[in-house]
Amino acid sequence: MFSKLYSAGMFGLDAFTVAVECDLTQGLPAFDIVGLPGAAVKESKDRVRSALKNSGFEYPVSRITINLAPADIRKEGPIYDLPVLISLLKASRQLDAELSDAVFIGELSLNGAVRPVRGILSMALHAVKSGFKRFYIPYGNAAEASVVKGLDIYAVRNVSELLAHLKGEADIAPVSGKDYPLPAPPEYLDFADVRGQETAKRALEIAAAGGHNVLMIGPPGSGKSMLAKRLPSILPEMSFDEAVETTKIYSVAGLLPEGMPLIFERPFRSPHHTISPAGLSGGGSMPRPGEISLAHNGVLFLDELPEFPKQAVEALRQPLEDGKIRISRASGSVLYPCSVSFVAAMNPCPCGFFGDPDHVCRCSRKSVQSYLGRVSGPLLDRLDMHIEVPAVKYDELSSGSGGEASKEIRKRVTAARALQSERFAGTGCRCNAAMSSELTEKHCRLTADAEKFMRSAFESLSLSARAYGRIIKVARTIADLAASETIELVHISEAVRYRSLDRKYWQ
Ligand SMILES: Nc1ncnc2c1ncn2[C@@H]1O[C@H](COP(=O)(O)OP(=O)(O)OP(=O)(O)O)[C@@H](O)[C@H]1O
Ligand SMILES: [Mg+2]
Repeated sequence: MFSKLYSAGMFGLDAFTVAVECDLTQGLPAFDIVGLPGAAVKESKDRVRSALKNSGFEYPVSRITINLAPADIRKEGPIYDLPVLISLLKASRQLDAELSDAVFIGELSLNGAVRPVRGILSMALHAVKSGFKRFYIPYGNAAEASVVKGLDIYAVRNVSELLAHLKGEADIAPVSGKDYPLPAPPEYLDFADVRGQETAKRALEIAAAGGHNVLMIGPPGSGKSMLAKRLPSILPEMSFDEAVETTKIYSVAGLLPEGMPLIFERPFRSPHHTISPAGLSGGGSMPRPGEISLAHNGVLFLDELPEFPKQAVEALRQPLEDGKIRISRASGSVLYPCSVSFVAAMNPCPCGFFGDPDHVCRCSRKSVQSYLGRVSGPLLDRLDMHIEVPAVKYDELSSGSGGEASKEIRKRVTAARALQSERFAGTGCRCNAAMSSELTEKHCRLTADAEKFMRSAFESLSLSARAYGRIIKVARTIADLAASETIELVHISEAVRYRSLDRKYWQ
């Protein structure tokens, strides 16, 4: 007796259809799963056997063979428990139902409860594209699947409930997007708390508006970490497409908060410097997304940059440029997106006061050099803006008024992003920082004055071609903040100013 139904599998961020075939033959009782199953899939037979018995069904006494097709892609995770169980019930004639338009996904408890799994969002999007009509998933994944349209999604609590539904004895109401409204945005720390530091605030506004990279450098206690922590409060809203992209990554990593249908605020990831290279860029035997991918469409913040393992940080160089990272393992290579605004903070030397006009730096020339040397030239070249965050003056600290509120800054950022969305419509590019060279060519017209200034800056600062490109993009964002069509002298000169600090410290 034979049965066949459908499930899905994940490879990186992409889902694929898996056909689950079950064959029962006479012979010594056995339970085999073939079709390149991983360890968790092989263990599925014990969970299925118990779940079946504890839900009041009979475990067939025959030779059971389960095949997961296509057989050339490795199947990982416990997601096939539910489809294997249903296919067993069909093959043993305990269930008679037409299931060719349905997809089953779910891990089982020994008592027949259905437990949540990773990657539901990608699998649901794939099921719609492949023409399936019904999607049976664990109850715990309902919120995440609810954003997908064009599919009847049934969130299942346990095997008995599902079987009653499939036999037509009881109903399960399909999941609706209305059941899972987005929660209110979190309360962010406000830029109004930061006294002084106008240059740094302005630079972070530009970074938020155009998606640029920033390095903040300054003595201890000047407010670098404080400024960075307030960045989420001025980031522009995510579009629905961006939110789905980012949510897919969290879904695959199993990090989507319970009951949360979408990651709808731009992520702000701030890993500690003890993180491993794999934790930062992604890895593992079944490659998982790293912090840089979890920050996709948002900000990756590395505080105390020189304290991070050099190898881990250097590995970010290519992904920062490409907006995606390929991780290769024996099981295959997967591509994760990582279009981020990279923000870093550091002291200029071990004691922190090198270059500070009011403090004596106690570090030797050599130790300053070796400290700064932990941030390589090529990495520095990829940081669009280098800004100095000097110690705050007493008057600034003691004056009653704080700075401008985040709400006001965010309005300007949002307006600048709206200009960019209009400009890049249909190109796949989302912000100025991500412009290709063709787009830069097309949209970054400099006035004659600006052109002349850029030429002299390029020569006198001996900039690299990359630095040139990045300065132009920052200038584009500065012009957008001023709602200017062309890039004028004031815009380009401000952009160049953000690139002159590396000479103070690194040369
Ligand atoms: N510009 C500022 N306005 C108001 N408070 C400030 C400012 N700068 C620093 N502070 C106060 O000092 C504390 C420490 O600042 P913060 O942690 O941001 O310093 P830092 O520059 O990151 O130092 P380090 O280099 O040691 O990491 C803040 O929590 C805040 O209370
Ligand atoms: Mg700090």
